[in-house]
This record gives sequence, structure tokens and C-alpha cells, in this order.
Amino acid sequence: MSNLWGGRFTENTDSAVYDFNASISFDKRMYRQDITGSIVHARMLGRCGIIPQEDSDAIVKGLEGILNDLESGIISINESMEDIHSFVESELTSRIGDAGKKLHTGRSRNDQVALDVKLFARDYIDSLDSVIKELLVTLCSIMENNLETFMPGFTHMQKAQPVTLAHHLGAYFEMFRRDRSRLSDIRKRLNLCPLGSGALAGTTYPLDREFVAKELQFNGATVNSMDSVSDRDHIIELLSALSVIMMHLSRFSEEIIIWNSNEYRFVEISDAYSTGSSIMPQKKNPDIAELVRGKTGRVYGALMGLLTTMKGIPLAYNKDMQEDKEQFFDAADTVINCVTLFNGMLSTIKFNKNIMEESAKKGFTNATDAADYLVLKNIPFRDAHRIVGELVLLCIEKGCALDDLTLEEFKKYSSVIDKDIYDAISMKTCVMKRCTDGAPGPEAMKKVIAQYKNYLS
Ligand code: ARG
Repeated sequence: MSNLWGGRFTENTDSAVYDFNASISFDKRMYRQDITGSIVHARMLGRCGIIPQEDSDAIVKGLEGILNDLESGIISINESMEDIHSFVESELTSRIGDAGKKLHTGRSRNDQVALDVKLFARDYIDSLDSVIKELLVTLCSIMENNLETFMPGFTHMQKAQPVTLAHHLGAYFEMFRRDRSRLSDIRKRLNLCPLGSGALAGTTYPLDREFVAKELQFNGATVNSMDSVSDRDHIIELLSALSVIMMHLSRFSEEIIIWNSNEYRFVEISDAYSTGSSIMPQKKNPDIAELVRGKTGRVYGALMGLLTTMKGIPLAYNKDMQEDKEQFFDAADTVINCVTLFNGMLSTIKFNKNIMEESAKKGFTNATDAADYLVLKNIPFRDAHRIVGELVLLCIEKGCALDDLTLEEFKKYSSVIDKDIYDAISMKTCVMKRCTDGAPGPEAMKKVIAQYKNYLS
């Protein structure tokens, strides 16, 4: 063990306390962000004449060497240090001597860790955004190929009205598109640089905060030093956006699981994305979709965990805040994995189009259209609703679809019905006619897909 703060202590830290306090086991993954921030800080110290230029140059060179050696595996992170910040500083000092001890001038680990987490979150948002975009590309291409793949649309899990696979998947496209826009909002809001806030009250050194912010691609420096070191809103917002993404993925997974069931057979998940049973030889299970649905819980858990951690913390920095990282990292890894695997599963799934279409035909999904047909023949809608209800009852007794009734049978219930009823209630007509903006009609969907392609390009 090794501390950055031995001066005022006469006794050693209890080793259990040291371990309890240390964060290196998890904050080591921010080494790149930590070193990047330190390089810019050191350059600024030199430019502003706060430390000699040659010390600044030596620090920058030393830090670049450490980064290279870590990336290429020449050295590894010494986990007996308290945290990643201590490790980098002590490695630097052992490489370049006393100049290394000047790196922390005008800085605290409080503003340093706030910076590292922001840089990490920013990189993460960019990576996540690109995997969500890949998922949208998959969705768009399935949609394009299924403009006339009819299937039942459901409400209350009961067949309601016919839709198309393109339209159904378009709903998920909208959800994930909103997720991307949420991520981009969060990225914008977090993009102010906390470095230079010190422990909580800024510093007396003439730091150039704007320079640091600009070099690190921030939109500017944060405004209040106490807020800067005690703000974790961006992590909470991000965990909230991650929770919404998981909620979307979980709903989608649930549908895939239902569609893949023996009863539905709307889809078949490819062998590569299915698992078997150790005892039942016939089984092919949708484990990936189930795991995605299940992992939603731990992402929500991270959000609740950090909200709860933050709720009682007075200003400014308190060690409670070290609890942000493990939960955030776990949720971040979980979500990126889930989106990636889900996309793999979706892009290899087989849609049983005939079964979907048969299912839509059998569930009286054209009953509303039959009522609309009567309305066109001047029957008031309420009466039309009742007449079709009675026809449905007849069909249930006979075990057939509305389309299977004879003209005589139709006429017994309403004399206005003619042989044009068959065309009016055919699946194709029911869907094709729904061409208002946002509806499943292929003409309406074509316009939407053109927009989506434009958005993705
Ligand atoms: N490991 C700490 C964290 O993650 C770094 C900041 C430590 N600051 C302090 N005053 N002890 O929050």
C-alpha cells in the first residue's frame, strides 16, 4: 500500500481500512482519461508559468511514456496503490524524479476524478451511440424487406388489427432513435470541464481553465467549483438513459421470446444465438433475449443505487461519491453488451411470414374493417359494430374466419352486404388502406423508411 497523504499521520493505515478505501481495482479502467487530463493540466501549468517549462515538458513526456507502456502492455497497473491517480503520479515520479511531484500543483483528486469520469462517460456515450446506430441499421433493413409481411397487431395481447412486420419494427426504431437523442442531450450537458475547481474552492494559482477545457474538447469550464466536484448528475442522467434503453430492449426481448415460442412460431432464432437444454434434447431456448430482459434489473439497480448514494450528501466532495464508478461501469458494460448481442440475434433471426399472416387472418383482425364497410353502406357505426360482433360470434361457433362466411350468411345479418365485402375485408386491403402518416400501409411506410435511411446516412 502507498498513500499520497502521509505527512500529518504518525501511524500506518489499518490494512483493512486501506483496502476498504482504495478504488484502484475499478478506477484503473480510467487510466487513459486520467493521463490525458494530466497531460493537458501539465501543459497549462507550463504555459501559465506556474511550473518551469522544462518541468512541464518532462511531465508531458513522462506521462506519454506511461500511456504508451500501459497500452502496449510493457507495464501494468500496480494495484497496491490507492487509486489510478496515485498510481500515475508515483509512476511518473519514479520515471522523471522531482518534476513529477509538480504535476498535482493547483489540482485535487476531487476535480481530477470528476474530470476522469466525465471523459469516460463521453467516450462511452460515443461507443454506445454507434452500436445503437448499428441496431437501427438492422431494423431499417428488416423493415424494408417486410413492407407487406402481414401480422396481427395486438392490444391486451389479443389480436386487434392487422399490421405489417415493417410497421411493428418501426415502433422499436422510434424508441432507439429517441435513445440516441437522449444520449446526445446528456453529452451536451455534461460537456463542461471541472478541472481547476481544486478540492472545492478553486485555487490561488493563475490557472487557465479555458485552455484546459478547449484542449480536452469541452465546450467550456464549469461555473461553480463546489458544484464541479460534487456533481454526479451526468452519471445519474446517463444511468437513467441506460435504463430506458434496457426497458426498450427488454420489451423487444419479451416479444421475441413470445414469437419464438412453440405456440406462436412467428420467428426462429438462429442456432448461433440459441442455447440447448442439458436434459431435454428437443429444446432450443431464447436465452439471449431472456438474459437481456433479466439484465434490465441490474441497470435499474445502478440508477437507484447512485440516486440513493447522492441523496444525503452535503456539499462538496464526500467519499460516498466514489460509489458512482462500480455501478456506472457495470451498467455501461451491460448495456453495450446487450445492444450488441441483441443486434446479432435480430440480424440472424428468421421471420416465418406465412405463420404471421395466417395468425392475422384467424384472429378477426379485420373486424373493424368489416364494420367500416357497413358504415360506407350508410349503417351507423354503433349498429355496424353490433352486426359484426354477431358475425364474429357465428364464426367462433363455426370455427372459421369472417372471410369464410358465405354471402347468404352475411346477408342474414345485414342486407346491405354484397360480394364486395370479401375484397373490403381481405388482409391486403385492410393494411393497404391504412395510409395515414404513421400507419402500417406500405405507401406510408415507404416514406418513413426513406426518412430513416436519410437519418442513418
Ligand atoms: N477515488 C476517489 C473517488 O473516486 C477519488 C477522489 C478522492 N478524493 C478524496 N478527497 N479522497 O471519488
